[in-house]
Amino acid sequence: MAVTREDLQAAIDRFPRTELADLPTRLDDCPRFSEALGGKVRVMVKRDDLTGLAFGGNKTRKFDLALGDAVAQGATALITGAASQSNHARQAAAAAARLGMKCVLVNRHDHRSQMGIQGNQLLDNILGADVRLVVDGVNQNEVKERVVEELTAQGEKPYLIGQRAVVLGTVAYVCCVLEIVAQLEAMDARADFICTASGHGTHAGLALGVKALGLPIRTQGFSPSKGDEAQRRARLAEVGNEAAELLGLDVRLQAEELENTDAYVGENYGIVTEAGLNALHLLARTEGILLDPVYTSKAMSGVIDRIQTGEIPEGSTVVYVHTGGNPALFAYAPELISHGDYRQKLVTS
Ligand SMILES: Cc1ncc(COP(=O)(O)O)c(C=O)c1O
Repeated sequence: MAVTREDLQAAIDRFPRTELADLPTRLDDCPRFSEALGGKVRVMVKRDDLTGLAFGGNKTRKFDLALGDAVAQGATALITGAASQSNHARQAAAAAARLGMKCVLVNRHDHRSQMGIQGNQLLDNILGADVRLVVDGVNQNEVKERVVEELTAQGEKPYLIGQRAVVLGTVAYVCCVLEIVAQLEAMDARADFICTASGHGTHAGLALGVKALGLPIRTQGFSPSKGDEAQRRARLAEVGNEAAELLGLDVRLQAEELENTDAYVGENYGIVTEAGLNALHLLARTEGILLDPVYTSKAMSGVIDRIQTGEIPEGSTVVYVHTGGNPALFAYAPELISHGDYRQKLVTS
């Protein structure tokens, strides 16, 4: 049995929020972009790139709920880490600053950080994070555990962002569905598809929200990295169902019903694709909305492909949940410049 919007909202409101995010985010109709794709499918963009807080993104929405826990526990320091251009890490650094906590980022010393300090990595430093770059062969999780010990010995109360935060972040994306439904209603519109760049909590939360409310919407996730599809679906169902349990919902996600593809990743995570860069420039030039080179542009290239092949049929409305990541644009300037037909001219007289 589907839950009502009011009951779902009430279940979410039981968790403390940190008020880090500007919510609800806008839902922008994109008529010029839709027209450029043939005009048969209406594309709207849910602007989670505009959640606020140091360039925002999906993590800020997640942290708004997930870090309520850290605050409740009296944490004085946040520890996390991922790739050197991680949007998650940058938003954690900003959240820590906003909440008056220290932040230690245990990121990978990957090909991007070896190219110099730019994009998210630059922002991590501006935001005052203690950035540790882990070289190949060193276990990143073990370094995080050592940082927990180090901070504890200094009298801090460290909070390692882990599974509990992932599940609460998934709940945050159930809440995003409630926002979308209310916004569509106000626009006298309906959605047939919700699409996003995700292989984890964002997709799981959106799929759970749609299923819990009993909406006739297909949720499609576009993974930023390659991997075994069955494993990815199982992981999505697992985190979605942990969120369902936390919310006290009867509904459960089945791995088989989750649509998540890595078909638009290209060569690898973090390496741009031609189709992704085309999508990035098209949305920028038709709607003034910036996608990022690693996640959202590749996912949008998947949406475009599905519109063009008819997999997303004529007459449909797609809500594309923009998960942010724009600071990485600056770290990927060489790829963008060599792709784009930029019209910059030198004026000498
Ligand atoms: C811009 C952007 N989009 C999407 C994702 C994927 O989010 P999730 O892990 O919730 O699936 C990330 C995660 O790092 C991200 O930075």
